[in-house]
Amino acid sequence: MNHRLDLTPSLFALTVVLATVIHFPVLRCQKTHPYNICRQSVKCGNIQLEYPFWGSDRPAYCGHPGFQLTCQSNVPKLVYKSVNYRVLDIDSSTQTITIARNDLWTNDCPEYLHNTTYNSTLFNGDNFDQQNISLYYKCDTNIPGGISVPTGHRFSCNVNNTQSDSYFYLTNLIRPNIANFFVLCDSYITVPVNQSSAARLATSGASRSDLSSALTAGFNLQWTANNDECEQCIQSDGQCGSNSTSPDLFACYCTGGNFSLTCNNVGESGSNFLVC
Ligand SMILES: *[C@@H]1O[C@H](CO)[C@@H](O)[C@H](O)[C@H]1NC(C)=O
Ligand SMILES: *[C@@H]1O[C@H](CO)[C@@H](O)[C@H](O)[C@H]1NC(C)=O
Ligand SMILES: *[C@@H]1O[C@H](CO)[C@@H](O)[C@H](O)[C@H]1NC(C)=O
Ligand SMILES: *[C@@H]1O[C@H](CO)[C@@H](O)[C@H](O)[C@H]1NC(C)=O
Ligand SMILES: *[C@@H]1O[C@H](CO)[C@@H](O)[C@H](O)[C@H]1NC(C)=O
Ligand SMILES: *[C@@H]1O[C@H](CO)[C@@H](O)[C@H](O)[C@H]1NC(C)=O
Ligand SMILES: *[C@@H]1O[C@H](CO)[C@@H](O)[C@H](O)[C@H]1NC(C)=O
Repeated sequence: MNHRLDLTPSLFALTVVLATVIHFPVLRCQKTHPYNICRQSVKCGNIQLEYPFWGSDRPAYCGHPGFQLTCQSNVPKLVYKSVNYRVLDIDSSTQTITIARNDLWTNDCPEYLHNTTYNSTLFNGDNFDQQNISLYYKCDTNIPGGISVPTGHRFSCNVNNTQSDSYFYLTNLIRPNIANFFVLCDSYITVPVNQSSAARLATSGASRSDLSSALTAGFNLQWTANNDECEQCIQSDGQCGSNSTSPDLFACYCTGGNFSLTCNNVGESGSNFLVC
């Protein structure tokens, strides 16, 4: 018997094993690699989720911890403390998000009243010439003389089955004589509105439907989330994200591996893979 005939099958087996171990991970597209996961386009409704946003099918490591969105019936929502915001638009090139209060979306007279709050460390940019409006609920119009009752800007509210008078007023237009009346209201909240909504609400003829339009048009916030780091990472052909073990740290996901700031793909061929 020739020994070569015995060797051939084991050589073949060895070749297969080597091919599997060495070649396949290199040649196959690694769909689970963070670079490929984070570059995938994830949409909720017509909003495209990109860094720093995550949530829905986009893992936390592709975003920044403070920018989680939930997708409910194709409506992306930003949750902060007890307030839900509907995300109407995201412009990554200017780091601007347009949001509207979900509780005031269909009802300017909600059961539970909350002020508008957001994390001012993460959203601290341009205020876009926006204005605050104050919404006063359960105001007492049976008041002694000397205090003037505002003529317009009134809406009737049915909260907890109690009908009451409520008012909306641009916060910076509230003069002392009106303020004296508003202190008699049960509660109030403030909500930012955009520049053109503010101009409309400032007029004496502003109606409740102007108020509703202003609340559903929302307001803009500019975010700060490693903006410069992300730009550098993208310029080095990486995908921005966060470190999965220390989420407060920025991470740049590259075809050559994970990096803390920018891709350094050269000389990292061992971990290179095909882009899907
Ligand atoms: C409505 O009733 C609930 C429960 O009693 C209460 O927590 C809430 O503050 C009330 N809303 C207003 C606007 O007074
Ligand atoms: C606001 O965001 C910063 C940065 O991510 C975080 O450290 C801080 O805890 C956040 N504050 C609140 C109140 O969530
Ligand atoms: C609106 O109110 C918030 C706090 O209630 C304040 O930080 C912000 O500066 C106000 N915006 C304007 C335009 O006055
Ligand atoms: C909203 O904030 C103002 C102070 O800025 C406060 O007087 C008011 O009670 C707050 N409203 C609610 C419902 O918490
Ligand atoms: C402001 O809101 C109005 C609706 O009240 C909308 O038509 C307009 O496009 C918005 N403007 C900006 C600058 O966002
Ligand atoms: C790369 O990043 C991903 C996502 O954060 C993580 O799961 C993986 O363990 C990292 N790989 C290495 C080699 O650090
Ligand atoms: C992630 O953070 C750990 C420390 O918690 C660090 O050792 C590692 O290098 C970081 N990874 C990246 C990709 O920055």
